[in-house]
Amino acid sequence: MSSTTTSTEATTLRLTSPLPTPKDLEALIQTLHREITSSDFSLPAITRLLQSYTPSQDDYAPYAHFDTSKPYTRNLVDDGNGHFNLMILCWTQGKASPIHDHAGAHCLMKILDGELCETQYEWPKEDEACGNSPMRVKKQTVHGANQVAYIHDQIGLHRISNPSSTRPAISLHLYTPPFDYCKTFCESTGQARTSGRCVFYRDFTKKNKQEAQQFPLPNPRAVPNVDVAGAAATAACGGQMDMSLRSQRPMFVPSK
Ligand SMILES: [Fe+2]
Repeated sequence: MSSTTTSTEATTLRLTSPLPTPKDLEALIQTLHREITSSDFSLPAITRLLQSYTPSQDDYAPYAHFDTSKPYTRNLVDDGNGHFNLMILCWTQGKASPIHDHAGAHCLMKILDGELCETQYEWPKEDEACGNSPMRVKKQTVHGANQVAYIHDQIGLHRISNPSSTRPAISLHLYTPPFDYCKTFCESTGQARTSGRCVFYRDFTKKNKQEAQQFPLPNPRAVPNVDVAGAAATAACGGQMDMSLRSQRPMFVPSK
């Protein structure tokens, strides 16, 4: 019997074999770069990879920047050569995201510290598009440290909140493919809006500092596509999409 591995066999192996347990965040990033080079990747394998990653504060603290004036702060860890975005999100106590979709992308979320509550909603039906029907909750789950959650538009919409009034929370998010815009939804009416451009902090590590020299952070006043009207409407519906543009390094707030 030949020991030669065909390309089909190699693909099957790649899609079914467990990936090595990453020893740290950098190893996790390297594996993600190897495994996500197109839309043809193994979601179960990537889910297990994130589950197997044991986070340490030393690993993620450089990216865990809080802007406590916001419900949550998005920090880019790696842009996946355009195939994914890996982000660390820092959640202010008692605050929540708006209800949102994921622009057709896969979204995996691993809790690094604290707890996060995920409330999933059904998409508003077509005849509700005029926006007069309250949104229907599918389920609500509290995710604890190290747990990994997954959502896609085919599953529904969700809102993420930090249920603690005293403790910040930190989560690691993998979005593939990356996206710049999504939709937010008003819980009481189902009305959808296109979010402002999804933005993030990115200037943390040596690597990102080199990158930032090539692609400096934009001047907030010079960047278009900030949907101020949409932000105000979304805030009125119980959530505020994180769309402010950042040029200053905020404060790290370690949780207990
Ligand atoms: Fe989300």
